[in-house]
Amino acid sequence: MTLIRLNTFNVLFVSLVVVTVGYVKRTPWLPIRREIKTSIGYPEDSILNFTELTRKYGYISEEHRVITDDGYILTMFRIVKARNCHKKKRSPPVLLMHGLLLSSDCWIDSGPNAGLAYLISDACYDLWVGNVRGNYYSRGHVHLNPDKNAEYWKFYIEEIGIYDVPAMIDYVLAHTGFEKLNYIGFSQGTGTFLVMCSERPEYCDKVQLLISLAPVSRQLNTKSWIFRTLTQACDQMESVLSMYGIHEVFSKGEFTQEFFGFFCHQSDVAQRLCGTIIDVFEAVDPSHLGSITNETTRILVGHFPSGTSLHNMAWYGQSMKTRKFMKFNYGKKQNLVVYGSEQPPAYNVSATTVPVLCIYGNDDGVVDVKDVEWLMSKLPNVLESVKVDVRLWTHMDVPYSQYTGDTIFPKINEYLYKYTKV
Ligand SMILES: *[C@@H]1O[C@H](CO)[C@@H](O)[C@H](O)[C@H]1NC(C)=O
Ligand SMILES: *[C@@H]1O[C@H](CO)[C@@H](O)[C@H](O)[C@H]1NC(C)=O
Ligand SMILES: *[C@@H]1O[C@H](CO)[C@@H](O)[C@H](O)[C@H]1NC(C)=O
Repeated sequence: MTLIRLNTFNVLFVSLVVVTVGYVKRTPWLPIRREIKTSIGYPEDSILNFTELTRKYGYISEEHRVITDDGYILTMFRIVKARNCHKKKRSPPVLLMHGLLLSSDCWIDSGPNAGLAYLISDACYDLWVGNVRGNYYSRGHVHLNPDKNAEYWKFYIEEIGIYDVPAMIDYVLAHTGFEKLNYIGFSQGTGTFLVMCSERPEYCDKVQLLISLAPVSRQLNTKSWIFRTLTQACDQMESVLSMYGIHEVFSKGEFTQEFFGFFCHQSDVAQRLCGTIIDVFEAVDPSHLGSITNETTRILVGHFPSGTSLHNMAWYGQSMKTRKFMKFNYGKKQNLVVYGSEQPPAYNVSATTVPVLCIYGNDDGVVDVKDVEWLMSKLPNVLESVKVDVRLWTHMDVPYSQYTGDTIFPKINEYLYKYTKV
């Protein structure tokens, strides 16, 4: 009994934090203006957007607007000129997709020697970087206003997989004239790909290779108690919070994000503390020598978290309690209305017939090894499944580590090359 009570307490406590945070979101003094940030010493890279930041390091990027079938306006970036590629671009194009609460910027925050967007375009691949609905680059709609219409925020990985990923694939193929592309998805970026193949299998055929980095499916074994408590609080409190007008969570420019941005950009002590927070989030021993540099920490807090819907966070809470990779659970009665069955249907993981390279970490506190192995056992076409050979390779290391060039990029490059015609 005590266990249950303790749990409820945690859930309520975190919910309270979520509520508080949601409320201050639109105070007039937030977000802090760019000029002020510059004048008080924020690192420049934490303030620049994708196009500006890549240009600073000698890369040229284009911005593209993509409109989904259900009217969401998404922003994609394409690196058209890399600093170190002087040959013709290899084909077909590569689409790189971020994870939950991230944006395209996560692929450049660790700088030109480590950011995957830089490494991939330096290897002469035609790189496109996506942004899913609800983050600060893709917070638009043809007729819904995200600040006023709750309807805008009624999405979770289902809609991202059914609408956003197909819209981006179609756009890239139409723009480049290719029939297929190669797809790299980090965390949720793979989860939404699995949803797409399950619900719109014809799109699976437009991809010739899936590189899956720390893939999301079910999250039964997630060790991170912060992530677990937070998402389960979102699940339990969703209807209450919605009643109070909270539909969007952890967006850029709101209180928590600005707070960490302000705090973490400062002294050595603050930076160490912020690094420790990331470790605690991942449930790894904070005394280990992290592979995310202090400089990267100072920069990433300018772009993270990037915002999503409360509903999506709630789905993550559910995914930690189920043995299958399932659709949203609305409760028995409502499930009958929505799905015609008391239990939500499972996604058809076998429908992801694309050849898959999977790369995952032993000490990933968010996507546990056991859940990755479960997923790999269900996928029909796994080429290779690689556990990163580094002690304490965590979830956040995938986008932010200073060592991606030695750890995960060689394998990514090997497979991209195999699935490329020159
Ligand atoms: C990025 O910054 C540039 C220059 O300030 C601006 O023109 C562009 O609209 C910005 N892009 C996005 C997607 O915010
Ligand atoms: C970050 O800075 C702290 C304090 O100066 C230092 O102890 C630590 O080793 C640094 N971490 C990294 C990964 O560079
Ligand atoms: C799942 O997808 C596979 C491959 O497309 C198909 O053969 C199978 O019938 C599907 N299963 C269900 C339950 O729809």
